[in-house]
Amino acid sequence: MGALHAPVRLSPNFEDKLLRTVWFVGAAILVVVSGGISLAENAGDAAAVKSEDGKYFDKEGNPTFKVAADGTVDWYTYSGYRRYHSECHVCHGPDGMGSTYAPALMDSLKAMGYGDFVGVVASGRTNGNSVMPALGDNPNVACYMDDIYIYLRARANDAIGRVRPAEKEDKPNAYTEAENTCMGKK
Ligand code: HEC
Repeated sequence: MGALHAPVRLSPNFEDKLLRTVWFVGAAILVVVSGGISLAENAGDAAAVKSEDGKYFDKEGNPTFKVAADGTVDWYTYSGYRRYHSECHVCHGPDGMGSTYAPALMDSLKAMGYGDFVGVVASGRTNGNSVMPALGDNPNVACYMDDIYIYLRARANDAIGRVRPAEKEDKPNAYTEAENTCMGKK
C-alpha cells in the first residue's frame, strides 16, 4: 500500500536518459531552425558583458570566456580545456589546432555561433567520408558543452595560447550542483 503513496521518483538512470533526449531534441530543433547545416548565425562579439555564478556571457547572452589581465581564466575556460583534451583532441588535434582528419576548431569558432556549435556536437555531421560523431548522448560531452564551447571560443579569439591555463577562478558552487545533477551523481 505504502508504495502507492510514495512520491514518484525518477531513477538517476532515467533522468540521465531524459536529459540526453532533451539535448538531442534541442539540437535537432536548432538544426532545423538554423536551416540544416548552414551557418545561420555568426560568432558575434566575444566580450563578456555580464556574469552569473562564475559564468560569463556576451551581449547576445551566449556563453563566453573571461581572461583577467594577469592571465587568470574563468572556471569554464579551464574546465573546457580539460574536457576538450579528453573528448575532442583525438580527432581535432591538441589545443583546437586541427589534424589531417578533422578541422581546427579554433578556426571554426571564429565564424560559428553557439547554436550551430551545439547542434553539430550533439547531432554530428557527415560530409562524404568525413564524419563528426553525434556526441549528445555522451555525458562527458553533453554535461560540458558550454565549457568546451567557451574554451574554444577563447582559443578562436586568441585570449589564451597553447598552454594549460595556470591560474583559474574557483569552481562555482552552482557549477558543482549542475554538474552532479547532469552526471547523475549526488
Ligand atoms: C571521431 C573523430 C571526432 C571526434 C572524437 C570529434 N570530432 Fe568534431 N569533427 C570530426 C570531423 C571529421 C569533422 C568534420 C565533419 C565534416 O566534414 O562535416 C568534425 C567537425 C566538427 C565541427 C564543425 C567544424 C566546422 O568547421 O564546421 C565541430 C564544431 C566539432 N567537430 C566539434 C567537436 C567537439 C567539441 C568534439 C569533442 C566534444 C568533437 N568534435 C569530437 C571528427 C571528430
